[in-house]
Amino acid sequence: MTTEIESILVENRVFSPPADLMSQANVSGMRGYKALCDEADRDPEAFWARLGRENLVWDTPFNQVIDASNAPFYRFFPDGELNISANCLDRHMGTPVENHTALIFEADDGQVSRVTYKELLVRVSRLANAIKALGYAKGDRAVIYMPMSIEAVVAMQACARLGVIHSVVFGGFSSKSIHERVVDVGATLVITADAQIRGGRTIALKNAVDEALAMGGCEAVRKVITYRRAGSDIGWHADRDLWWHDVIQGQSDQCPPVTVEADHPLFILYTSGSTGKPKGVQHSSAGYLLWSLMTMKWTFDAKPDDVFWCTADVGWVTGHSYVTYGPLAAGVTQVVFEGVPTYPDAARFWKMIQAHKVSVFYTAPTAIRSLIKLSEADPAVHPRSFDLSSLRIIGSVGEPINPEAWVWYYNNVGAGRCPVIDTWWQTETGAHMITPLPGVTPLKPGSCTLPLPGIDAAVVDETGQEVERGKGGFLVIRKPWPAMIRTVWGDPERFKKTYFPPEMKGWYLAGDGAQRDKDGYFWIMGRIDDVLNVSGHRLGTMEVESALVAHEMVAEAAVVGRPDETTGEAIVAFVVLNGPLPQGDQAADMAQQLRDWVAREIGPIAKPREIRFGENLPKTRSGKIMRRLLRVVAKGEPITQDVSTLENPGILEQLAQAC
Ligand code: WTA
Repeated sequence: MTTEIESILVENRVFSPPADLMSQANVSGMRGYKALCDEADRDPEAFWARLGRENLVWDTPFNQVIDASNAPFYRFFPDGELNISANCLDRHMGTPVENHTALIFEADDGQVSRVTYKELLVRVSRLANAIKALGYAKGDRAVIYMPMSIEAVVAMQACARLGVIHSVVFGGFSSKSIHERVVDVGATLVITADAQIRGGRTIALKNAVDEALAMGGCEAVRKVITYRRAGSDIGWHADRDLWWHDVIQGQSDQCPPVTVEADHPLFILYTSGSTGKPKGVQHSSAGYLLWSLMTMKWTFDAKPDDVFWCTADVGWVTGHSYVTYGPLAAGVTQVVFEGVPTYPDAARFWKMIQAHKVSVFYTAPTAIRSLIKLSEADPAVHPRSFDLSSLRIIGSVGEPINPEAWVWYYNNVGAGRCPVIDTWWQTETGAHMITPLPGVTPLKPGSCTLPLPGIDAAVVDETGQEVERGKGGFLVIRKPWPAMIRTVWGDPERFKKTYFPPEMKGWYLAGDGAQRDKDGYFWIMGRIDDVLNVSGHRLGTMEVESALVAHEMVAEAAVVGRPDETTGEAIVAFVVLNGPLPQGDQAADMAQQLRDWVAREIGPIAKPREIRFGENLPKTRSGKIMRRLLRVVAKGEPITQDVSTLENPGILEQLAQAC
């Protein structure tokens, strides 16, 4: 753990919650919020038990609330049983929600299709029956590698219906990344599509799966089901491959949901850490869904007539909790979007909000920042040129939102009447943790404000001591919560070591630096480990370094993040080649080759923005690479630190010149 926490701008502007929203909100006013916090503080078990009973539909009601006998492997509602798909779909049957639109799908080319809750249940049941007929059952693992589509949601829900554990791989990851995940999770089923269409481009998916499965170690995969999206040519393995439209033929539209224990793994989602390969974050069924649903109700103030739109891909946790699970359990109508915010032009988001009358909009700061530039340059794509009056809440997730972007979002998208809900959470936390509530919290641009009821967040020093207000430290969560990571798939030791290090007294260490201001508001200051956040996507510096050194030309590599106005951070790689130091065009050429290589090894999101070649890297006499100095070089700033401990101080000059 490093303690390099930079002081941040502390905002003085405060924006009060709109009165009309406050009067009708699910949690109304500071008094409503405090009452829930007090209830949770007084008796956490009774609090979680009440929420669990009131918000989930159980096949076997639970008697025990938290099993802490094997902490930190906490189990919520351990003797309860339920099914997650039934809690998202069947629960609405026989209620007015059954005929509500569940999903409004807008394709990349603008075509729109809709399914009601009733129709969605039929689609999920038919696919689940098909998967069952192929011999799959509770506990099996399925990798899903699909574009944003109704079918992606159907595939995840169908797995949940059978107790099959899914692991979704983001469509932007390479075949190598698919391979790693298929092997680690022990998948026996893969569900994919021929291709995805984004920004007018068709990108092959099934072929990447074929490449991954040909890499060896994936022999356990018996079947690959392919949804035809684009009509692209694909390879075919007769013994293994099946078309989605063929397998659902003749399947019954009823599929009894399989009852699972509350703690049964619903999914495993890989995410980057500071060391080694991405780790499989394992989530439970009941606790995870409870918190996804509660945060829909509290954070997004979900009401039956809301049109909710979370722009995240189902390949990330945000797309799990706020596309596939939370919104369906809450019974809202939601938009699912295949494309990108800038196609066919930068007004795509605004046009869609206007067309579908979106009331709650949830996106990432990186998208906002890129749209600010384009909107300010062209009134035709400016949000003010559209009717966005349907909006009542606008949210942000994935990285700190800088106050300038916050205020622009508030004024131009929210027209000064919609609270900006800056939600802090992680793949590991399952759902929101620290966030304003729209009918409660006075907002300060750039702060994720206060913890949700039941979430005991604190900022502490290396020894676990709470720091004074206004001082930086490590963000920890001091009590278990229902949606917390259950373990790292296949590696319980890594789970304990990473998230519950001994100095933190059994508290969950989030991996973020934070500070609280005089009002107790939390300000997140970025990662304390070697995790990068590029456009809201989490990447480990080690992952990118390993990809680079896997290339035959590369002897050594060090990767750091450089602050970037649009993407939050940009990847800068310092590379030592096996041959002579390349110059001019040759260097540019090699840098391009290496960038493409990283895209193939991990995925295009991991491509270094800049590659600098040097004869060596700055190292201490004991051979440790001084990343701290590389960060300064990457920013183009002069080195003012003491470099006397370096073996080779001259190398800094060479790397600075290599730009
Ligand atoms: C960062 C995404 C500041 C943080 C849901 C965290 C944020 C990591 C915020 C998790 C926010 C997420 N303000 N930073 N509102 N939300 N982060 O696992 O560094 O992809 O640890 O989960 O993103 O990223 P992950």
